[in-house]
Amino acid sequence: MTTMKTIVIGSGGREHAIAWALARSGDINEVVCIPGNGGTAVEEKCSNVSANIHDIGSIVDACVRELSGSAEGSFVVVGPEDPLAAGLATRLAESGIRVVGASHKPAMLEASKDIAKAFMKKYGVACAESETHTDLTSAIAAVNRINGPVVIKADGLAAGKGVVVAPGPEEAIRALKSFMEEGSLGSAGRKVLVEEYLQGDEISILAAVSVTPETAAAGKAVIQPFVTARDHKRLRDGAKGPNTGGMGAIAPVPELDDRVLEQFRTDILEPTLQGLISEQFDYRGFIFFGLMLTKDGPKLLEYNVRLGDPETQAVLPLMDFDFARMCGAIIDGTLASFDFRWKDGYVCAPVAVSGGYPQAYQKGMPIFVNRAAVEAVGARVFFAGAINDKRSSSQASPAGPLVTSGGRVLAVSAHGTTLEEAREKAYRAMEAVSFDGMFYRRDIGLPGAAVSGDL
Ligand code: AMP
Ligand code: GLY
Repeated sequence: MTTMKTIVIGSGGREHAIAWALARSGDINEVVCIPGNGGTAVEEKCSNVSANIHDIGSIVDACVRELSGSAEGSFVVVGPEDPLAAGLATRLAESGIRVVGASHKPAMLEASKDIAKAFMKKYGVACAESETHTDLTSAIAAVNRINGPVVIKADGLAAGKGVVVAPGPEEAIRALKSFMEEGSLGSAGRKVLVEEYLQGDEISILAAVSVTPETAAAGKAVIQPFVTARDHKRLRDGAKGPNTGGMGAIAPVPELDDRVLEQFRTDILEPTLQGLISEQFDYRGFIFFGLMLTKDGPKLLEYNVRLGDPETQAVLPLMDFDFARMCGAIIDGTLASFDFRWKDGYVCAPVAVSGGYPQAYQKGMPIFVNRAAVEAVGARVFFAGAINDKRSSSQASPAGPLVTSGGRVLAVSAHGTTLEEAREKAYRAMEAVSFDGMFYRRDIGLPGAAVSGDL
């Protein structure tokens, strides 16, 4: 029998959740994570293969090697934005490999905020007003004209460090100088957007995309949104402290008005789909809309050409469909008729981080997980900055020899009939996890815990 194999590229919590979702499919025999993490190493059906994630050529070679001799429907899912922006999905497709991940051109919708904004304006997507500048003096003049709260965005990928929400001109000009004069973000900050400040609640809508010139011609090009989600970006309870990569997520967002979702569809999703079709993109993967719910309706803050982290860890446990089959439908152009079904209830997924994050933190702390206690509440751990270290003293732990290797170490994901129940389960499970310096927010999913706008 030939093996139906999938490969997941990436090493975060999102990739652990994707690998878990693929492994649950009865169609899939084996999931290979490149490079994966300490969680994917022990997930059922899963194994890790090491590779330099920054070297596209070596990832392509590893995928070709791993998939040789596997069954015909085998495929690769690319998790993070950097390899997509570097053209990994395009290169894999050129090597004859079936791949879920934006090709190089649509990947620029995340890799360049200027390209994204030009696309939004060209196709009439509801978004914040902005100007693009490559000259510091003209950027400062734009900030002074606004003379109030304003958002400064570096054009390029900056691992979450490229956006400064400035209460006034002084902070904005400081950010401009740091990006444009001091080169704090390298080439990513040479071009900046000076953007209108929007006030409101933020939500994330992750979606599957299957757009090719062929599906478009057949009227089958589609963006299929998943259940809504909400990230909590600030480090501390009550949405205080510095921005982070995400301290926890919930799905779906409670009490969201149907009218808002309808506006999202007409003012953001539909024009985006028309734009992807008009540009003749080959876009078979995921898109994630970062939205601000303003008093004038939802506005798009950004496109991401991938799934969100930690939103994925909250959204995928709500699937009542086969994720691997959905990936097949994305690739084959049959997504428009794919039967998405979602479980009732809510998922709460708080994230545990290393002490000191998002500034400097120590690595190599042994991680202890009382699996029985986590399972007893029906929760699940998705690992991120966690690796296996054979020299670690935590060998005796039921979780195996796991040590911390990053800022965001893991998320605990729990389902409940109500959000309150999901929260209660997630936090009970979190008590079964420990490592030196461990920190997590206690208010993920509480009203007001993700508010933006306190400048
Ligand atoms: P982005 O990478 O564009 O999502 O920006 C990161 C964060 O900055 C967002 O999650 C928002 O909290 C904030 N942000 C971005 N753009 C705006 C805006 N136009 N107005 C207010 N806040 C914003
Ligand atoms: N949760 C935000 C992101 O993945 O960019």
